[in-house]
Amino acid sequence: MSDVSSTGGSNGAPPATRQYVQFAFYKVDAAWRRLPVTVREAAKREVEEAVASCSERMQVRAYSLVGIRGDADFMFWRISDDLAPFQEAATALLSTGIGPYLSTPYSYLAMTRKSVYVDKTEREGPSRRLRLTPGTAKYLFVYPFVKTRPWYVLPAEERQKMMDIHIRVGRKYPTVKLNTTYSFGLDDQEFVVAFETDEPGDFLDLVMELREAESSLYTLRDTPTFTCVATTVRGMLDALGAPGDRVAVAASAQDGGWSRAASVADLPEGAATTAYVGGEQVALFNAGGTLYAVEARCTHGSGPLVEATIEGSVLTCPWHESQFDLAAGCAVLRGPAVRPPRAYAVRVRDGGVWVAAAAVEGEAEPTLA
Ligand code: FES
Repeated sequence: MSDVSSTGGSNGAPPATRQYVQFAFYKVDAAWRRLPVTVREAAKREVEEAVASCSERMQVRAYSLVGIRGDADFMFWRISDDLAPFQEAATALLSTGIGPYLSTPYSYLAMTRKSVYVDKTEREGPSRRLRLTPGTAKYLFVYPFVKTRPWYVLPAEERQKMMDIHIRVGRKYPTVKLNTTYSFGLDDQEFVVAFETDEPGDFLDLVMELREAESSLYTLRDTPTFTCVATTVRGMLDALGAPGDRVAVAASAQDGGWSRAASVADLPEGAATTAYVGGEQVALFNAGGTLYAVEARCTHGSGPLVEATIEGSVLTCPWHESQFDLAAGCAVLRGPAVRPPRAYAVRVRDGGVWVAAAAVEGEAEPTLA
């Protein structure tokens, strides 16, 4: 059953519903890499299908931790109005060919909730906190958080004063977006915090500066900390690596540097998604049955182009409405942007959407019709 917050609805709009949130970290046994390539490939497809089948009932974001942490290889950030889809998603994943090789070293359950502290600088209103909208940042930093019990017996005004400083420091780092969720009674920690950013250095500076805030005296635990790299489900699975995969990657490089960026099923008409190609974040669009790939950030002020509106082949940036024509190599139709975002060649092969790391001359736009 969904929980309905007491906030919202005062303007006649239906009250905002709270959400359940889960950060599930998985470790893959080394035996997985010794399986034949064909067996692993079949299992990867099963995982892609399992995630797609659950995504109607929840938002799912995939992250890789390969090469970053030793005790976890990938993570799913799941957001749902109900708890049941988390169990269904876990069962579906464990029922795939990779299931027998998976363990779950960490899993954090939480919910959205209106903060008890007043953020005078917040413009969107408290209901924003009840509905999470993950952005398109390349990195997500996640950790469980527990405060000391003396914090909770301090007078409310004293806590608010300390939080005002905390909030002021946070506002100094606009490139870092904070998602705070609450675990009281649901899980071992009190909160799970997840910071989205393209700039790990900004996040490091923010955390260091917050250590000097008085509220930090009341932190009991804020580890382990996970640095997670946003990717597609396929990218997350391919990052697990194996000799066979390296051969495939080398073959792909010889073939002009094409990378599989998404499944065709991920991109129905009108849809957009992001992927990483050659270390760069790319936005993919299906505009009227034709696929396009462009750099993920607007050339004006780094607006997330995956959230752009599309009419015909015209892309309108969500931040200041610059317009680009996808069919004309992303040419600028309207400012303030003056430079077109980089366009990538796209190809459809084996049910996948493949993107060339470099522009490919004479490559026709792939049409799915
Ligand atoms: S960020 Fe896209 S128009 Fe300003």
